[in-house]
Amino acid sequence: MADFPIVDIHTHVYTPAYLDMLRARKKVPYVHDPANGADSRLIILSSDDDASTPADQRGRPVDSSYSDIEVKLAFMKRHGITTSVISLANPWLDFLDVDDAQIWSERINNDLEETCAQVNSKTRTDTVATGIKTLYAFGALPLSAPDASIIVNEITRLKMLPHMRGVIMGTSGLGNGLDDQKLDPVWAALAQTQTLLFLHPHYGLPDEAFGGSEVTQRYGHVLPLALGFPLETTIAVTRMLLSGVFDRFPDLKILLAHSGGTLPFLAGRIDSCIAHERKFVANGGSAQGPVRDVWSVLNTNIYLDAVVYGEAGLRAAIHAAGSHERLLFGTDNPFFPPLSEKEDDIWPSVTTNYKAIEGTLGEDKEAVRGVLGGNAVRILNLN
Ligand code: URA
Ligand code: ZN
Repeated sequence: MADFPIVDIHTHVYTPAYLDMLRARKKVPYVHDPANGADSRLIILSSDDDASTPADQRGRPVDSSYSDIEVKLAFMKRHGITTSVISLANPWLDFLDVDDAQIWSERINNDLEETCAQVNSKTRTDTVATGIKTLYAFGALPLSAPDASIIVNEITRLKMLPHMRGVIMGTSGLGNGLDDQKLDPVWAALAQTQTLLFLHPHYGLPDEAFGGSEVTQRYGHVLPLALGFPLETTIAVTRMLLSGVFDRFPDLKILLAHSGGTLPFLAGRIDSCIAHERKFVANGGSAQGPVRDVWSVLNTNIYLDAVVYGEAGLRAAIHAAGSHERLLFGTDNPFFPPLSEKEDDIWPSVTTNYKAIEGTLGEDKEAVRGVLGGNAVRILNLN
């Protein structure tokens, strides 16, 4: 057991109320309970809901690890994690009707806050079983609310909940992507309240990008999760950059999932294409174009998680972020469980990330400690 904090900043829950809501739905996202009593199925990606696949086999099995906080605490103990910053998993509240968004965001965020308070409370009697573990949370936003002021109000309200350390959000924004000017009040509120935004993919790329739905079905989740997710994140952040979000809101702080998708690897190419785009004012055109370059944004506005499962990605992330001090350990639990499904297994998806961090920074013990926990403690102001 390490004698320094190990903080998992990328770890999800579907709260029990949220799962019940998905159980009542019949279209994506939904939970299907097989009649034979087998594990429920979680159908959240559009490619999960293929009519040619029997309902009992669609999506992925969803067991108690997705919603039971005791299972999360046992997972933390097994992997030496002292502190987790839990977040609602995708697709968050993106799909809700306009009238439901505010009620659900308040319900989910209050439930997350209460879970953290209860787990952290000294009065817990079962700390011997679970070890002493600490929880914080990223809140979810009511992005489909009829008015941006409702989203802004929730951002402000979250500041008063003691265990909240930011918000998690997908790439659709208000429905038109993150370069939508209508998001400006949201960026302003995040910057002004110094609320960290954890930006996470969900929608991936259309099946056509991979050769059509027959191809994506053939290979299960590999193409959408390995390639679709990281490219979605890269496209979303690049659109923010191109539309001048970081010029208008230089104080915005964003934590990018999966080490920024492919952004660290492609940053130079993005910069070069911007420098050669004749449309932009800076190059003689009439469209504003971004003022700040991608490197300055990466070094001041962006933090990256270390959920990239390999040294090449991690080295690119550290180089792009300008320092290992902007890199934070995560697991993506409860996704990517071991296929053996034994309850007390060590998860290869977690050990791969530990190994990549040690392989990349091993000589520099301080840096390893920072990525594993110290950076999160400092950046998220954890006790
Ligand atoms: N699959 C998902 O749907 N979400 C994650 O966060 C990871 C894998
Ligand atoms: Zn995730």
